Amino acid sequence: MVYDIHVFVCTNERTGAERLSCGAAHGLALTTEFKKQLKDLPVKLNARANKSGCLGICDFGPTVAIYPDGTFYVGVKVEDVKEIIERHVLKGERVERLLLKSA
Ligand code: FES
Repeated sequence: MVYDIHVFVCTNERTGAERLSCGAAHGLALTTEFKKQLKDLPVKLNARANKSGCLGICDFGPTVAIYPDGTFYVGVKVEDVKEIIERHVLKGERVERLLLKSA
């Protein structure tokens, strides 16, 4: 199955580690919110949200990757999901303030 939009939300949880992990910082709540809002899109899109393991940018999480364009958003909060859906998923725009900045 190829999706028009496929959202991967890091829910990795490290136990006893000093590094941040997205799962410990509401990754699961993010996944739930993406699933809910993608289900209620006002247009017909084949869209899906999945939990994912570590996406490798833990210090800036919670991390969300959106394909097919390969956009990475970091520091995503549950209240940001609506904006990501409205701008990225529905209009094809990127939410600049949440983009992973390259070093
Ligand atoms: S724990 Fe989420 S990106 Fe590594």
